[in-house]
Amino acid sequence: ITGGCGFVGSHLADAYLERGYSVRVLDNLDPTVHGSHSQLPAYLSKDVEFMQGDVRDADTLVASLKDVSIVSHQAAAVSVVQSMSNPSRFAEVNTLGTARLLELLTDRNRFPVRKLIVPSSMSIYGEGLYQVGGNEVTPHLRAKEQLESKSWEILSNGEVCQPVATPETKPLRPTSIYAITKRDQEEMALSIGKASGIPTIALRYFNIYGPRQSLSNPYTGVAAIFSSRLLNGNPPVVFENGGQLRDFVHVSDIVQANILATINDSIDQGVYNIGSGNPISILELAERLIELFEFPGEPSITQTARPGDIRHCYADISKATEELGYRPK
Ligand code: UD1
Repeated sequence: ITGGCGFVGSHLADAYLERGYSVRVLDNLDPTVHGSHSQLPAYLSKDVEFMQGDVRDADTLVASLKDVSIVSHQAAAVSVVQSMSNPSRFAEVNTLGTARLLELLTDRNRFPVRKLIVPSSMSIYGEGLYQVGGNEVTPHLRAKEQLESKSWEILSNGEVCQPVATPETKPLRPTSIYAITKRDQEEMALSIGKASGIPTIALRYFNIYGPRQSLSNPYTGVAAIFSSRLLNGNPPVVFENGGQLRDFVHVSDIVQANILATINDSIDQGVYNIGSGNPISILELAERLIELFEFPGEPSITQTARPGDIRHCYADISKATEELGYRPK
């Protein structure tokens, strides 16, 4: 597991260990995630074989792949916002790092892996899928002028488009550098996987939440941001009017999908949405967290949009349900 000290990677390590696999973790303990002293996280199981190193370094990758039969490539630079000010780092870690790994895996005699799993992201869709007047719409981001006039919904010839569950077939319109590198990663892995005969599965994660998600990293996602504010006695700050829909999926369901992808021997190539399949508005999320934290106040609604945000996107999980047997709990 590359990136096995991270939020998702560490849960995967636990799940594989529980099922009797031997687990090696390769992680560079990136200071933006693991603190300025790059500390090994306390939650990392003592039963993993830990290797500190960077996926950009071919020699490190070679050492990490020794005797490995399944590669779960979780290492990535993850902040959408940071990717826009530091595109070269994201291209190096996510695109080039994956390319290095894939290049090694093409040597099937030296590295006879029997499964490659890459995490992809809902961010590669850009906006989700919509319908208007019985037709499907795959919109681009809303224009700045529209957002300045505080008109939040996606419009087509003045009509409001209704969001529907987004399937894997929706055309990809990544809008951030982060999302572009995640698409690169997914497409490169599937391409090399096919050419080299490595069964390869890409899992498009929706908005993940759960234990071990950083409460101090401001780029980690809205559920953690709201929780962190509430723990500090502050109301959640809700952008737009709070009506934007997302699909929040618990990290244990992400684990479930990864294990299903690992044990499935009949799929050689596949891309799957991994969400809950249930949309929830950001305002409702704020209200439910306020209730859970017993916070004596209301969300603060800004009526301004965060640049680059999509309006709605939630997962159609029928493909993962049918082909992998995925059942989010
Ligand atoms: C983005 C990425 C996704 C990544 C996720 C977490 C895109 C399209 N998607 O998703 O790949 O996994 O970030 O890094 O780039 N919000 C508030 N108040 C806040 C923070 C956020 O109202 O304090 C709202 C946002 O405006 C947005 C929603 O909450 O509408 C979700 O935001 P966020 O958790 O950052 O994730 P996404 O934008 O869905």
